Amino acid sequence: MGYLRLGDDAPDFTAETTEGKINLYEYLGNGWGILFSHPKDFTPVCTTELGYMAGLKDEFATRNTKILAVSVDPLDSHERWLADIEETQGRAVNYPVIADPDKTVADLYGMIHPNASDTATVRSVFVIGPDKKVKLTITYPASTGRNFDEILRVLDSLQLTAGYQVATPVNWKEGEDVIIVPAVSDEDAKAKFPKGWKALKPYLRVTPQPNR
Ligand code: BEZ
Repeated sequence: MGYLRLGDDAPDFTAETTEGKINLYEYLGNGWGILFSHPKDFTPVCTTELGYMAGLKDEFATRNTKILAVSVDPLDSHERWLADIEETQGRAVNYPVIADPDKTVADLYGMIHPNASDTATVRSVFVIGPDKKVKLTITYPASTGRNFDEILRVLDSLQLTAGYQVATPVNWKEGEDVIIVPAVSDEDAKAKFPKGWKALKPYLRVTPQPNR
């Protein structure tokens, strides 16, 4: 597989992880998933990232979302490194970290960008929906740690917009006003958005978040 685009099927796989052998689709069940890669164990930025993600596990769980990390390092390396993460970040990694030394997962998800590094995975994030389709991809370089709070924000938007004909504006956060998608006529909007809306332009109709 070259690289994955939004709406593509998220490739299934079975892999060794720090929590035993895991099949992706079975692990996710009917919920959402976050698969994120890091370049290398025992490196500084990755250490902060995996520690921070451990602190967000409950936030993901309330969104019916499971998380999985991956790099091409072997299992014994992951296991030794997890002790360092707990020691330095104050949090034990409480989600599986995939050992992918033969690059099966990295290749399926296009996580190796040869012109950046032909041996290490870049910092990819894939959000996988309950339908096992790719809902979001982001790619960061090795030198820049990600903002994982942004992934929570996007999940909130994805889960809201999966159930209502709305879109979320710039920098939107859970609880803020949303936008009625242009495909909904004013006539239909009356029934769908009983709280009403403000039309700044015919195509820009702002309404309170419908599920609040
Ligand atoms: C890091 O996590 O700090 C890192 C990993 C690979 C290359 C550069 C930095």
